[in-house]
Amino acid sequence: MKVSNEILQLLHEQIAMEANASSYYLSVASWCKVTGYEGAACFFRAHSAEEREHMLKIIQYLNELKIHVKIPSIEEPPQNMESLEQVCKIALDNEQNVTKSINKIIDTAQKENDHRTNVFLEWFVNEQIEEEDLFETIMQKFDVIGRDNLALHEIDKILDKLKNKKDA
Ligand code: FEO
Repeated sequence: MKVSNEILQLLHEQIAMEANASSYYLSVASWCKVTGYEGAACFFRAHSAEEREHMLKIIQYLNELKIHVKIPSIEEPPQNMESLEQVCKIALDNEQNVTKSINKIIDTAQKENDHRTNVFLEWFVNEQIEEEDLFETIMQKFDVIGRDNLALHEIDKILDKLKNKKDA
C-alpha cells in the first residue's frame, strides 16, 4: 500500500470530519432559513457544499493511489441552535479542530517521510487559514455591529455576501 496504516486511518477520520462538518452546516442552513436569516442560510448551504468537496478531495487522493475508501456514516448534527452567534461560534470551534486534525496528519506524514501525503495536505493548510479567518471575521461582527435585531439583520446580509468568497 502506498500510505501507512496510520496515515490511512487518519485520512479516514478526516473524511468523516469533513462529512460531519458538511452535515452540520446543512443543518445550520436549515435552521437559519426557518428562523428568518436568509443570507446566513445561503452562506451555510454553500459552506456545506465546500466541506463535501474537501471530503471528496481526500477520497480522490486515496483512490488515485488505488486505495479503497470506506465511506463513513454521518453523525446526527447538534440540533440545539440558539442564536446566529452561537452557530457561528460552533463553526469556528469546528474549523479550529479541523486545523488541528490536518496538522496531526502532516506531523505523522513527515515522521514517516511520506512526502506525497505531506504535499497533498498543503492545500488543506492554506484552506484552513482561510476558514479560520472567515469565521473569526464573522465573530468579530457581533462585537462591532451588535446583537440587537437590526445588527443581526446586518450580519445576515454580510453572510450572504460572504457565501462565495473568503477574502472579504
Ligand atoms: Fe473542511 Fe471547513 O474544513
